Amino acid sequence: MKRQGIYKPTVEDAIEIGGIETLHPGGFALTRRTAELAELTEGLKILDVSSGRGTQSLFYSREFGVEVTGVDISEEMVRTSTSNAEKAGLENRVRFRTGDSQSLPFEENTFDVVINECAVGIPDDSQKVLNEMVRVAKPGGRILIHESTWRMKLSNEEKDEFSERYGTTPLELAEWLGMLEKAGVKNIVYEFEQWSRPEMFWKIRKDRDVSHWFFTMSIPEKLKTMKRIYSKFGMSGIMTVMTNERVFYRTVLQGKLGYALFKGEK
Ligand SMILES: C[S@@+](CC[C@H](N)C(=O)[O-])C[C@H]1O[C@@H](n2cnc3c(N)ncnc32)[C@H](O)[C@@H]1O
Repeated sequence: MKRQGIYKPTVEDAIEIGGIETLHPGGFALTRRTAELAELTEGLKILDVSSGRGTQSLFYSREFGVEVTGVDISEEMVRTSTSNAEKAGLENRVRFRTGDSQSLPFEENTFDVVINECAVGIPDDSQKVLNEMVRVAKPGGRILIHESTWRMKLSNEEKDEFSERYGTTPLELAEWLGMLEKAGVKNIVYEFEQWSRPEMFWKIRKDRDVSHWFFTMSIPEKLKTMKRIYSKFGMSGIMTVMTNERVFYRTVLQGKLGYALFKGEK
């Protein structure tokens, strides 16, 4: 849903401000599974849509010898990921650029594999994101996404309020499947229950497998994050982040929110 009124930091904003390397539930275990289902092999051309800090793009290239293009709307993310690629000595095989996932800056039929980890539900039009992912994939190319997915029927009011706090719009499993099909994705398979256990939502760090994004941060990390939130959004921003976090984890613990991995072909 579109956000209205004065902009207040969402759970997604707080995670990004926290400087955490992997910005999705399931952490690196899910990134590894994504690579496995994508059948990455040396020389393939991969597009990592909404590549964030570039952690996954670098992993794909390092582990499988693939050539990766990462695209993200945030200039700051692109700067950080480019510098991470240089530090890793992978700048010849992994490149990052700015762009909107709803209108990708690439020719059609360009990539063997197109991946979007945890960012189809963020822009206003998730259907456009999927359509674009399919457009730039080669015929027969693989399309993979993982996304926040409702595990129960909830009222529209509850869903809307949650999306506003989370900063992304979860959908029901059937809705994601319908949108992927509408975009032209064929032979869709998915994994839902194993990625929906509450501890998956605590697993968002690369170096520490089970870790709540904020409460298990070290004290210096916490202070740095709070300072950044305060300077961007003021005291009310800090209060909003705390409330959003509480609602987020309550929703997960009540078993309402899960997480699903989807794979299909163009
Ligand atoms: C939850 S993070 C996921 C980052 C990375 N894929 C990962 O799993 O660690 C969402 C990312 O989507 C990016 N993003 C948000 N809206 C976007 C858009 N319209 N086009 C491209 N990227 C976008 C953000 O800048 C952020 O880096």
